[in-house]
Amino acid sequence: MIEFEDVTKRYPDGTVAVDKLSLRIPSNEITVFVGPSGCGKTTSLRMINRTIERTSGRISIDGEDINAGDPVTLRRGIGYVIQHAGLFPHKTVVDNVATVPKLLGWDKKKTRATAMELLERVGLDVKLAERYPAQLSGGQQQRVGVARALAADPKIMLMDEPFSAVDPIVRHQLQEELLRLQRDIGKTIVFVTHDIDEAIKLGDNVAVLRVGGTLAQFAPPAELLAHPDDDFVESFVGQDRGYRALTFLKPDDLSLAPLPPELSVGDDGRPLGWKSNGELLPLGAVFQRGDSLRATMDSVLTSPVGQGVCVDEAGKAIGVIDYITLAEVLRP
Ligand SMILES: Nc1ncnc2c1ncn2[C@@H]1O[C@H](COP(=O)(O)OP(=O)(O)OP(=O)(O)O)[C@@H](O)[C@H]1O
Ligand SMILES: [Mg+2]
Repeated sequence: MIEFEDVTKRYPDGTVAVDKLSLRIPSNEITVFVGPSGCGKTTSLRMINRTIERTSGRISIDGEDINAGDPVTLRRGIGYVIQHAGLFPHKTVVDNVATVPKLLGWDKKKTRATAMELLERVGLDVKLAERYPAQLSGGQQQRVGVARALAADPKIMLMDEPFSAVDPIVRHQLQEELLRLQRDIGKTIVFVTHDIDEAIKLGDNVAVLRVGGTLAQFAPPAELLAHPDDDFVESFVGQDRGYRALTFLKPDDLSLAPLPPELSVGDDGRPLGWKSNGELLPLGAVFQRGDSLRATMDSVLTSPVGQGVCVDEAGKAIGVIDYITLAEVLRP
């Protein structure tokens, strides 16, 4: 756990960037700092690895004050990823990833093997390993940045708007990959963004900050959407919070109707499409038991006949749900 106790940062010109911030960042989870420009997100993040020194208050990692040791040792256990990846332009991709292991004096073979494995892990084609950063797309550079931060296997990863300079589709991919990666590696990740949707998607917990560097709310995303603490959080969370909250609602007793004769099903039980006047209409999105209400609703909305198809783990159709049943589930 990383704990902030009454942490304040006053810059030399008198700007108070962070004001008596207190919060607890749980280990092995993703905590997102979100808030408008200038609210102190970057300052808060960088105080954790002491690339910015706080003015007062205490920051501890697993109970130990981060000022107890020297900053170089501290930073060795903390990966850091920034916007535009911050790669070394004169080093190849694989050498960028190998930067920290080299500093730590690992042997060459082990370093290279680790770097290549990490590139694969973050979804980068290993054929790109010998290229220079300028020869990569923005999204590929960000992946290298993540791989580099992971290279020394740090317990903590600090990520400052790592995905905000890439287009929405690549951004979506990078977010999915981070979540997939996190399921394997279970790091303590502190992630900064000004995008509330990104915060809600990635965060196990979300800290909403206001300008002046004070904490507006610290809560899991579902809680933030359902119960914003005040008007600031409510307006920051956005207009369609009710709809977005469906992402976190997972009905366990969804009553499915049996497969109707219009649903065409293959020999292996997989749904193929909807029969209509001798034609086969596309299936639409399918969902599984345990999926969110948002996914279930999407299935109904994308079905050409207004019936979402539920499949099992193997992809076999096991039942359908229509608008009326879904509306019943949604009713408070
Ligand atoms: N070196 C500095 N000297 C003086 N003031 C600074 C300095 N760095 C940041 N600030 C101020 O501190 C406040 C918080 O800055 P910070 O960079 O932490 O915000 P942020 O939430 O990361 O913003 P953004 O979303 O734009 O990146 C801002 O008002 C900023 O102008
Ligand atoms: Mg910032």
